Amino acid sequence: MLRIALSTLLPVISACSGALPTAPARLLSSTSAQRAGAELFTANCAICHGLRGDGHGWRQEAIAPPPANLTVPPWSERAYAARTFLAIRQGVAGSAMAAWPNLSDEQTWQLVAYIETLPPGR
Ligand code: HEC
Repeated sequence: MLRIALSTLLPVISACSGALPTAPARLLSSTSAQRAGAELFTANCAICHGLRGDGHGWRQEAIAPPPANLTVPPWSERAYAARTFLAIRQGVAGSAMAAWPNLSDEQTWQLVAYIETLPPGR
């Protein structure tokens, strides 16, 4: 009986832990990916998050909750890259942070790579 229950549960558990995406090898440290991410960020994200990613975009006053400061942990941390990826892909329900399903996996990782390079803001 116990064995049946476990074999039913295990695939569910591994499916959950497998849900975090993995960055293509070396992409996050690639300067060309970071540069591409900077361009995507300026075009799509800076209006809310600010050109420096510190949350002080032109629209920050009008937004509640305010845009996240991406220059501080956890978003600036390599260990958090998969969650940063998912935040961009899926957005944050109940906030102005939309999902970005039209950005390819590569473009989304480029954004993550860029966010990791942001110098700490306030
Ligand atoms: C219309 C304004 C707006 C735009 C444009 C925008 N964001 Fe956001 N973003 C927000 C807000 C507001 C939050 C804070 C959500 C919260 O605190 O729950 C946020 C949060 C985040 C977070 C943290 C997620 C979390 O769980 O708090 C990340 C990462 C992020 N944004 C990345 C981006 C990237 C990359 C782009 C461009 C592709 C982008 N955002 C574009 C408003 C925006």
